[in-house]
Parts: sequence; structure tokens; C-alpha cells
Amino acid sequence: MSFQPAQRLRSKDLVGIDPLTPEEIQLILDTADQMRSIAERPIKKVPALRGMTVVNLFFEASTRTRFSFEVAEKRLSADSLSFASSTSAVTKGETLIDTALNLEAMQPDFIVIRHQSPGVPHQLAKILRSAVINAGDGAHEHPTQALLDALTIRCRRGTLEGQVVAIIGDLQHSRVLRSNVLLLARMGATVRVAGPPSLIPIGLEKLGCEVHHRIEDCIAGVDVVMMLRIQLERQGRMNFPSPREFYDFYALTPERLKLAKKDALVMHPGPMNRGVEIDSRVADGPQSVILEQVTNGVAVRMAVLYLLAGGSGEPTAH
Ligand code: CP
Repeated sequence: MSFQPAQRLRSKDLVGIDPLTPEEIQLILDTADQMRSIAERPIKKVPALRGMTVVNLFFEASTRTRFSFEVAEKRLSADSLSFASSTSAVTKGETLIDTALNLEAMQPDFIVIRHQSPGVPHQLAKILRSAVINAGDGAHEHPTQALLDALTIRCRRGTLEGQVVAIIGDLQHSRVLRSNVLLLARMGATVRVAGPPSLIPIGLEKLGCEVHHRIEDCIAGVDVVMMLRIQLERQGRMNFPSPREFYDFYALTPERLKLAKKDALVMHPGPMNRGVEIDSRVADGPQSVILEQVTNGVAVRMAVLYLLAGGSGEPTAH
């Protein structure tokens, strides 16, 4: 697969991976590569977004996404404001749309939103002038997570094309899965998935992945193993007998990791349920790139903000 990177993003928003072309994905990853160098400097700041305002509108809990957006905004010299729904007028009954319209009346340039309902970023993107960035919408999409995962694989392997990636765990409730399958398949990787039958959505293979029921079959010979968290907060009831049985049949253990390529990367978007979907000996082991994913999250979010602001050329000059 060979293509020229795009010069700019076509949309004013980043609501999902689906609308991105391979050329746009490459542009974001190439720009993120440049952004990574800013973190190596004594002064980790460039003026690229000086005078711009970002509202971080999180209706769901987050550690990695929220703080890495905040770090990215500060490194680009944007003014950033963070919204906590528990201390906002949402507690007095104000609707999401009214909340967004009132915040937009303060003339921010970007709204970064995480919401428990699928499609909320898409809905806001249609009615707001600001650029809307999806920081996770229900079980639908988490595009910046997939982009940071892709950057991590590309940094370690040099390319996404031809990589075989196993994604294992709670497939039913994972927005990370959906965005990753869309991105990796679009960039020429092969994606295999596995999980308990009760946690595999019907028709998943139509996204562009091979569906397996046994983790051992899924992992055999792969370049990357990406484990997904059991998302009990999205399950009305537990869809498997117990965490102990989940560990016995689906966890990534040192023994199972031996089925993958010798130097296979171990990934997890976090937060991890240690001892449920991943064994600590693997999570903290030499093949783990889990904390590199977090570091790359800042670079990817800087790249997305910079490109949506209309950036092109050299973003990293002092
Ligand atoms: N990976 C991820 O989205 O983590 P947070 O929920 O902590 O943002």
C-alpha cells in the first residue's frame, strides 16, 4: 500500500475513524511523530495554538484521555478549560445541547467531548461552529485512542501494513475495538479478534476482522496482542460466569503470550483489570508497550488539535 499523505484534514471535526482516508490517517501519524520531539525538549511548549481556546467536556470518567488532551493543549500554548458534569448546571437539569450551546457562546475554538451516548460528538459537530473532537462516545468510537495505538505500533515496527494484530476481551462494549479495527484494516493490517461468545457483537466481521472464540487460535503467530478491559459499567449484568473464569479462558498470561511472535508487542488502552483480562507478569513484562501508548497519546492529540486548527508544515518550531 503506497499513498501520498494528505496536506490537511478535510473535516472541521474528528468524530470517528470511519470518515478518515488512509492519507489523512498517515498525515496525523506523521504529524504526531514530529510532536513527539517536543516532549524531549527542556521547554516542552510551542506557540502553535496561542490565542485558541479548548473546552474539555467530559461527561464520563477518564484519566488518560482527559489529562493527555490537557497536556497536549498546554504544549501547544492553547488556553484550556475543563468541565466536570458533577459540578455543572447539568446537575440542575440543563440538557447536553444547551450546555454545549452555552459553552460555544464563549467562543472556544475546540470542544473535546466524552459522553456515554453513542453519536453525541456527531450530533454536536453538526450544530457547533467549534471543531468537535470525539474523546469516546459510549461503545461506538474512540478515534484518538486508535490513532495513538497505531502510532505506537508504527514507532516499534516502522509500518502498519502487513502487521497481524489480535484484539481480545470485551468486544461487545468496546469503542476502542471498533476504532482500532477500522483504522488497522484501512492501513493494511490484519485484525483478529476473540472473546467470550456473549461479548461478541453480531456481524463484527463486517468491520474487517477475523472472529475467533479461542484466545489461543487468535494469538498464534501475531505481531501485536491488544487486550481490552471488561467494561462492567456498560453491562447490565455480568456476561460471563466470573472474573476468575474470564482469566482462565481469555486472559493474556505469560504462557499464552508465547504463542504469539517472539517479539510481539503487548498493548492495553487502560485502565487495566489486572488478574482479569491481563496478568501482571505480562502487563509489566519486557514486551509491554502500555505506557508508551500513554506517552504517544499526548503526541497524537497535539497532532489532531494542530491539524484541525488548519496547521500544515513545521509545527514544532519555538
Ligand atoms: N484509554 C482510555 O480512554 O482511558 P481513560 O478512560 O482513562 O481516558
